[in-house]
Amino acid sequence: MPEIDYRLARTVAVISFANPPVNGLSQAVRAGISAALRRAQADPSAQAIVLTGAGGLFSAGADIREFGTPASMADPTLRDLIHLVETSAKPVIAAIAGTCLGGGLELALAAHYRVASADAKLGLPEVKLGLLPGAGGTQRLPRLVGVERAINMIVSGEPVPATDLASTALLDLLVDGDPLARAVELAASSAVATKPPPMTRDIPLDDPNLTTLCQAIRARLETQRPLLPAPMRAVDAIEAAGRPFDEGLSLERRAFLELMETPESKGLRHAFFAERATAKVDGITPSTPVRPLHQAAVIGAGTMGAGIAVALLDAGMPLWLVEADQDALDRGLTRIAGIFDGQVKKGKLTAGERDRRLALLRPTLSYEAAGHADVVIEAVFESLTVKREVFTALDRVMKPGAILATNTSTLDVNTIADFTRRPSDVLGLHFFSPANVMRLLEVVRGRATTPEVLATALALGKALRKVAVVSGVCDGFIGNRMLEAYTRQAWYLVEEGATPQQIDQAMEAFGMAMGPFRVGDLVGHDVSLAIRQRRRAERPGYLCSTLPDKLCQLGRLGQKTGAGWYDYPEGPRRPIASAVVEELITSHRAEIGVAPRRIEDSEITDRLVYALLNEGARILEDGIAARSSDIDVVYLAGYGFPRPRGGPMFYADQVGLDRVLRRVREFARNPHGDPAFWTPAPLLKRLAEAGERFDQTGDSPSTSTK
Ligand code: 3HC
Ligand code: NAI
Repeated sequence: MPEIDYRLARTVAVISFANPPVNGLSQAVRAGISAALRRAQADPSAQAIVLTGAGGLFSAGADIREFGTPASMADPTLRDLIHLVETSAKPVIAAIAGTCLGGGLELALAAHYRVASADAKLGLPEVKLGLLPGAGGTQRLPRLVGVERAINMIVSGEPVPATDLASTALLDLLVDGDPLARAVELAASSAVATKPPPMTRDIPLDDPNLTTLCQAIRARLETQRPLLPAPMRAVDAIEAAGRPFDEGLSLERRAFLELMETPESKGLRHAFFAERATAKVDGITPSTPVRPLHQAAVIGAGTMGAGIAVALLDAGMPLWLVEADQDALDRGLTRIAGIFDGQVKKGKLTAGERDRRLALLRPTLSYEAAGHADVVIEAVFESLTVKREVFTALDRVMKPGAILATNTSTLDVNTIADFTRRPSDVLGLHFFSPANVMRLLEVVRGRATTPEVLATALALGKALRKVAVVSGVCDGFIGNRMLEAYTRQAWYLVEEGATPQQIDQAMEAFGMAMGPFRVGDLVGHDVSLAIRQRRRAERPGYLCSTLPDKLCQLGRLGQKTGAGWYDYPEGPRRPIASAVVEELITSHRAEIGVAPRRIEDSEITDRLVYALLNEGARILEDGIAARSSDIDVVYLAGYGFPRPRGGPMFYADQVGLDRVLRRVREFARNPHGDPAFWTPAPLLKRLAEAGERFDQTGDSPSTSTK
């Protein structure tokens, strides 16, 4: 429950508000602060007022959970509260520690003076939620920090350290440690008492470059894909700060309310809560013990092992790197040094930081040496025989209580756990390539994995700054299992008449970071060929286009061979349509007896996205993912799904599951391809017929359209 504390410190009323964990400005908090401000006005002992947040932070802004509910508009609104602060007859001083974001900063901007601790961070991150600052931020910030800096802060949404703002009118005092005592001192001083409280709204904004700066940023935003409405509207609002204050404020308000209803904002707000919901895992409570992880080991220094090692070293974790032979170890070390050197070259890391990281690395050929590690991550060849060898050795050498993780992409984590006498300490940690860059980490919970081991793995994910999503054991886990359906469907589209370029362009216009054929060329076609060969051997009647097999037969394995679905004469970033592939496709169609037809882009995007979500529905029903929003996070953090669309499952909810089901049934009537492919997932069918949504957790009330 929020708490508002009112006390007198000599002649100063100190109003402190608490609403853990981030002092969100919910209706109850707003009402409490308003009442306390009125009390201070009426209190003859109070000459000035200090406003501060409890718990070491000011406020992370409006309570996002209220968005879309009556509480967000209920009196007093944030704008009412801010008006009360700015027009207070007694001076109001904001004491800012820790986080001061969004509506929290807007509240502070309306105070008459601001005192911040040196380690405070201030920002207006609303664009990240598809919004713009809606309580005067676009009007007051430029008046206090100048137009250029305000544009940068508002359009990027990135918080700024208080120390960077020390020379601006935003901060009257910067202090080390808790700012409250100095704020009270300032409030009681004659300097404050002797003049009428200065209002930010009265500061003239007469920057002659206002329009030019706004035009320049608009031109830059227009080149960005996807073109998002929020940053553009924010620039319009900042430009309106050159007009009379109330006009600018009304324009900002209108834009805020309109943006709140955009699909982009709903998607981004869903993504925000979905990422946080991943930490809520069945069987794990705040009292679940977490094992301390001081030292790690990585087995295998290939593509993945090297990337995982870099991720661990970036987090300051000392580690043993174990390889099968000296040559492979040397290659791994060169790979790791290469990654760090690249970062130094790009200015992302200093030479000193690189050297400190490399000093934490202990290369070895001995499993025994790694036995002291608290966690070991295996990244050797994708072969059950090799994994058996490695896990048998690990079981022998690792100290009791060590966590044993496999980075397998397709093998059964339960089988791997059973190679040891301690399956409860085994789980999957499925990183994505490049492992030090990609944010996603699938944490694969085995049959025997204990909550303690799982909680420790999630804590490791956090330490590595990954978005960790728990998955059950199945072939491909959440992400690759869905990707297989998506890619199979993309090949059928080519057989029917689309080109790889058309499909990639359609998916990129939808917002995917890369279309499926460019992704295939990047990952390498030998990986998916091995999977198809295994499927054909294991699943009688398995149907899949043979077109990608023919591509492999031509030696076109993707970027690593300089050619795949595309040619790459100018390097990996410039795929060029290939005459060889065009010919291959034409002869393949003739061979399977398909006369190509014209395929609309809308059919391409619907078929590919619905292939994803139909498999997602099965994953949800099988209990592989705990909630639909976890699947969304996997696709946002690991597969380049456009964040403003919220993820495939949220997208389906927005389209309406009844419409999705109708379209799936339409696709099922297409005689081409695998007749079983478009069988609607039973969960999709059930929810669509009941008029429900995938997202039933109530995690995202703020995006509810009801
Ligand atoms: N409202 C409601 N809940 C919030 C919140 C907010 N503004 N910000 C964070 N939370 C919740 C999270 O959902 C999470 O809840 P959970 O524990 O139930 O999952 C909890 O607070 C802790 O959040 P994090 O896990 O993100 O904690 P971190 O310490 O990693 O980060 C933070 C803290 C930097 C404050 C980060 O949460 C953040 O960036 N929050 C969003 C801030 C924001 O966007 N503010 C603008 C709001 S819009 C606005 O103010 C409109 C105004 O202009 C009118
Ligand atoms: P890789 O072939 O690049 O590297 C494997 C390394 O393991 C080699 O350096 C090899 O010498 C070493 N190795 C083999 N046997 C060993 C042993 N007994 N002891 C110590 N080292 C040994 O393979 P890659 O791509 O790094 O894949 C590793 C694992 O990660 C596989 O299980 C793969 O499925 C999985 N994975 C791969 C991804 C990718 O994009 N490459 C993505 C996610 C998971």
